[in-house]
Amino acid sequence: MTETGSGYSAYQIALHWITAALVLFQLLFGESMTTVVDAADEGQPVSALDQTLGSAHYWIGLAILALVVVRLIMRLVSGAPKPVEGGPSWMQIAARLSHGLFYLLLLATPILGLLAFYVGDPWSDIHSLNKPLFIVLISVHALAALFHQFWIRDGTLKRMLAPDR
Ligand code: HEM
Ligand code: HEM
Repeated sequence: MTETGSGYSAYQIALHWITAALVLFQLLFGESMTTVVDAADEGQPVSALDQTLGSAHYWIGLAILALVVVRLIMRLVSGAPKPVEGGPSWMQIAARLSHGLFYLLLLATPILGLLAFYVGDPWSDIHSLNKPLFIVLISVHALAALFHQFWIRDGTLKRMLAPDR
């Protein structure tokens, strides 16, 4: 992986926050999709709200998949910035590991969602299991970003807010 400059570009920052907002939506309203699927299995009607949120879940999930593919291709082509200087090596390893896990989850979850939608069990259970995995990873990631910015004061959060190139 090529490493570039000291910060993220405007497109990397935009993709980061758009993806974060869409994933948050999926985690908050994903249960409507479960309601829609369960109701279809049992031949029961669903509310218009669950129907709408269920459709949104499908299309937003596919949008996340498309965005992460674009993001990974651009990352391979134009590289990622070097880690912020000065931290111990375990911290840099932890950052790389958690970012790698994010990309894995961002790719696997929509694909498992497609399998859950078109095939059903056991993919539905595996897809739903990604919810707690995402919640744990996002919490650790956000706390780490805040810790870097406000405790270590190394500008980590700022570089995901203000473009460098
Ligand atoms: C990153 C993208 C996605 C995230 C974070 C996500 C998250 C979730 C969550 C939190 C639930 C509710 C689980 C529960 O009831 O406890 C769910 C259910 C579901 N999602 Fe997704 N989802 C994503 C993408 C997709 C996509 C692209 C599809 C299909 C095209 C999909 C299809 C489904 C289905 C069918 C269910 C119901 C599973 C069941 O019957 O238990 N998801 N998803
Ligand atoms: C669903 C939510 C989120 C996802 C999926 C996500 C994903 C990612 C990924 C994959 C990277 C690595 C970018 C790269 O180098 O290619 C990253 C970096 C970063 N994220 Fe997030 N993120 C989320 C939420 C947040 C939140 C809530 C914050 C702030 C509180 C945050 C702050 C940052 C910062 C500061 C970086 C840059 C780290 C560095 O410079 O090494 N992220 N995020």
